[in-house]
Amino acid sequence: MGYDVVSRLLHWVTVLIVFVMIPVGLYMTQDGIPRATQDGLFKLHKGLGSIFLLVILARLAWRLFHRPPPLPASIAPAQRWAAEAVHAGLYVFLLVMAVSGYVRVTTGGFPIEWLNAIGIPPLLPKMEAVSKVASIVHAVAKNGLILLILMHVGAAAYHGIVRRDGVMSRMWPPV
Ligand code: HEM
Repeated sequence: MGYDVVSRLLHWVTVLIVFVMIPVGLYMTQDGIPRATQDGLFKLHKGLGSIFLLVILARLAWRLFHRPPPLPASIAPAQRWAAEAVHAGLYVFLLVMAVSGYVRVTTGGFPIEWLNAIGIPPLLPKMEAVSKVASIVHAVAKNGLILLILMHVGAAAYHGIVRRDGVMSRMWPPV
């Protein structure tokens, strides 16, 4: 028995977006990249990140009312606990990344071009001090998120390739 189709879709949309957001975020903040490239990447990162904020809120809301399917009986209690802790951590860090990014940009008085283009105004006023804190939170939390993703992907690969115990097919394919 696997996850329902909405959970699967939200999971794989998250994967696609986050796998763009992290490399783009890391690259666009480097010194010495061409100005036009950097501008384009910032627009992409801010726009896609704002869309992701909606995706993660939808995901959390859906998860609140839909219990995950049971794990196979072969999974040891310590492993169940570890999996649940990593999943909870991923939700928290994804939310922190999306919210801190949005707060950093809007309270810094910077535009989110994709949202402006469809007439969505910034939801927060300019607040320099808040923007600075959000920027630090965004930069620090990325390390936690990357660590959790490595653990999560490692565990999924172990179950899918080594143990082949049906854990992977709870979430794959997307539909
Ligand atoms: C899943 C969501 C997100 C991920 C995984 C993510 C990831 C990253 C990463 C890895 C960096 C590089 C930070 C560093 O190396 O110090 C970064 C920087 C940045 N991100 Fe995000 N980000 C997300 C959401 C957002 C959102 C929603 C916005 C704005 C709407 C945003 C705006 C920025 C900005 C402006 C920077 C440049 C650093 C700064 O000025 O503070 N991010 N992001």
